[in-house]
Amino acid sequence: MMPAIRVLAIFTACALVTACGGGDSGGGATSGADPVGGGTEPVTDAGSDNNSGSDVDIGGDEPVVLADLPSPPLTEAPSANDEPIALAQEFHTITDFPLVGEPSPRVPVSVVSQFSEADFAAGLPPAVVSVPDGVDPALNGAPFFEGLQNVRVNAGDVVEIRYAPRDPEGELPGQFAQELPPGATFDDNFDGTRTLRWQTFQADVGITAFTAVAIDPAVSSYRSSQTLLIAVDESVDPANVVNATPSIRAVDNYTVRVGDPVVILLDGQDRNGTIPSIELVNPPAGATLTPDYRDEGLSWLRLVPEFVGTLTIDVLTRDALDSSITGLDRITLFVKPASEFERSGARLRDAAANGRVLFGSALSPVFYLQADGGLYESFADSEFALMTPESSMKWDAINPLPGLFEWADMDNLMRFAEQHSMAVRGHPLVWHRSLPSWVEETAVEDRIVHMREFITRVMNRYADRVDIWDVVNEPLNDTSGEMRQSLWFETLGEQYIDIAFAQARELDPAATLVLNEFDVGFAGPKFDGLLQLVDRLLARDVSVDAVGFQMHVFSSFNQFDELAANMAAIAERGLDIHITELDVALVAGASDATQANVYARVIETCQEQPQCTVLQTWGFTDRYSFRTVTEPLYLNRDFATKPAYEAMQQTLSGN
Ligand code: G3I
Repeated sequence: MMPAIRVLAIFTACALVTACGGGDSGGGATSGADPVGGGTEPVTDAGSDNNSGSDVDIGGDEPVVLADLPSPPLTEAPSANDEPIALAQEFHTITDFPLVGEPSPRVPVSVVSQFSEADFAAGLPPAVVSVPDGVDPALNGAPFFEGLQNVRVNAGDVVEIRYAPRDPEGELPGQFAQELPPGATFDDNFDGTRTLRWQTFQADVGITAFTAVAIDPAVSSYRSSQTLLIAVDESVDPANVVNATPSIRAVDNYTVRVGDPVVILLDGQDRNGTIPSIELVNPPAGATLTPDYRDEGLSWLRLVPEFVGTLTIDVLTRDALDSSITGLDRITLFVKPASEFERSGARLRDAAANGRVLFGSALSPVFYLQADGGLYESFADSEFALMTPESSMKWDAINPLPGLFEWADMDNLMRFAEQHSMAVRGHPLVWHRSLPSWVEETAVEDRIVHMREFITRVMNRYADRVDIWDVVNEPLNDTSGEMRQSLWFETLGEQYIDIAFAQARELDPAATLVLNEFDVGFAGPKFDGLLQLVDRLLARDVSVDAVGFQMHVFSSFNQFDELAANMAAIAERGLDIHITELDVALVAGASDATQANVYARVIETCQEQPQCTVLQTWGFTDRYSFRTVTEPLYLNRDFATKPAYEAMQQTLSGN
C-alpha cells in the first residue's frame, strides 16, 4: 500500500462544489473524495502535514480527484480576438492548404533586457569559474580580468573597454568573447590584452551584457566567464548621433527546388532605431515584395525560381530620415533540379507501417515561411505518418503574455498533418522549459491552476485532432534519477504529474498519454529513477499509457542491449514505449556510415520490442536541427539524403 501523499490545500468554495463548474471547463470532482488541484491558497509540499485547512488524502492507491478550475479563470482564457486570420492567397502556394496568421495588430511582446538598473547598480557580476576535474584552485588559481567595471554611456558614444586577463601563477591567460553586441569588435592589442569597441546607437538604449572568457594558461578547460553590463542611455542630442547605413537582417543561403514557390522574410534594420524602406534591385521575373500585414519593418519577398543555377537577388534599403543613405544586401539561392530530390524505395512511413511502427518526426515552427518550405513540406508529407510540433505548442509560443494566445502556427501544423493523414503528438503540456516569464513569476500556490488551465486550453482547442500527448516532459533531474526540482515540483512535489495526467485524461479519455524523458535509453541512475517514478505513478493509478524515450544520442552510442532491457522493463509494466526525439549527433571524426548504423540499430531495437509502437526523429534535415552543428539527422542542410536515410528505409522495411 503506497503511503498516502497528504496534500494540504485550502480550496476556494467553488473547488468543493461541482455546481460551480465553468471557467475553462476543466472538469469537476469525479468521485466522493475531496478534490485537488483547484486550490488558490498556499499548499504544503506533498507529504508534509499542516494544522490549518482541510487535509486531503490523495495518495495511496486512489487516483487524484480534480477540483473544479476557478471561474472566472486565474488568467484570461482565449477569445475570438485570438483567432488567426486567413493569410493572403500567395502564401498558399507553399502549402496545399490555406494558411492562417496571427490576428492584427500583434501585441508587442516587449523585449526587456534581462538585466535591470538594480543589477547595474550592484556592480560587476561575479565571474563564473568552471573548474575541471583534477584542478585544485588552491594550487592553481583561476584566471581573471583585471580592473573591469560596469560602463554607462549615451547612445552615439563609442564604448572602449580593455580586457587584461591575469593568472595568479603569473602566466598569461588566453581569452575570447562570447556573443558581441551588434556591430562591436573585440580587437587584439598584441600585448595579451584585447579591447571591446562598440559604436552605440539609439537602438541600443537599455542594458547590454557582454561576456568575455579567460582561459587558464595551464589547463584550457579551466575558465572564468566575466560578464560586464553596459548601460546605454538616450542620446543627449540625437542630431549628433551618426546616421547609420540601413540593412536587412541577414538571410541564409538556401537550396531550393526549381519551380517551388519561395518566400523570404526581409526584416529592415537601422541602428538609429528607424525603419528603412526596402526595394528589390533588378529582381527576377515575377518576384514580388509585399509589406507584412502586422509589422511595418517586415516585407515578404516571393518568387518562383524558373531556372537551375545560382540565383542572386539584391535588396536595397533606404534610410527613413535621409533617403540618400542606402544599404545593399544580396540574397543567394542555389536552385536545383527536381530530380536531385527524388528518392527511390519505400517512403519511411510506409516501410514502418509494414513493421507495425508509427513513424514520424518533429516539424519546425513556420516551416512554410522559410525559403525552402516547398522542399521541407514535400519531404515531410510523403515520409511521415505522425508529427510533433517541435516548438509551436509550447507555452511561450502559444500564450506569451497573460490573455494573449498565438494559435496560428500550431493551427497550420494541424492542418498540414490532417491534409496528409498524419497523426499528431501534442508536445508538451507540462515542461519546465519554454515557459513565458509571466508563468515563471506566478505564485507557487497558483501554479497548479495555471498548469491545468493551460492544459485545458490547448487540449480543448485541438480536442479529437491529437492522438498522443506528451503530458509531462522531463520530470527527472538531468543526470540522476532524482525528481527535477522544477517550478512544478516546487508546488506539490511529484503530485503535479498525477494532476497533469488526470487533467489530460479527463479532457481526452481516448488519447495516448505519455511521460517523456531523455537519457533513459541506457542503463544508469536516470533510468532507475524513471522506473521507480513509473512504479509510484502506476501504484497511484496515474493514467500513463506510454513512456517516451527521447533518444538524443551520439554516433558513439552502442548500448543497444541496455536500450532493449530498458524498453522491456517498461513493457513489463504494461506500458508502451515511444521513441520520441531520435537524432544521432556526429562525434568528432565519426562517419555518416557510423551514424547510419546507430539509426538502424535503434530502429531494430524498437522493432524487436512488441510494445515499442512509435518511432519519431527530432526533425529530418540538419539545417533545422537544434543540434545542427553536429549534423545529427538524415538529410543534410540542402535536403540531400545521407546514408542514414537509406539505412532507415531498409531497417524499417525489415530488410
Ligand atoms: O519563435 C521564436 C522566434 O520568434 C524568435 O525570433 C527566436 C529568436 O529568439 O526564438 C524563437 O523561439 C525559439 C524556438 O525554439 C522556436 O524556434 C526559442 O528561442 C528556442 O529556445 C526554441 O528551442 C527549442 C527548445 O526545445 C526549447 O523549446 C528547440 O528548437 C527544440 O528542438 C527543443 O526541443 C526539445 C524538446 O521540446 C524536448 N526534448 C528536448 C528537445 C531539445 O532541447
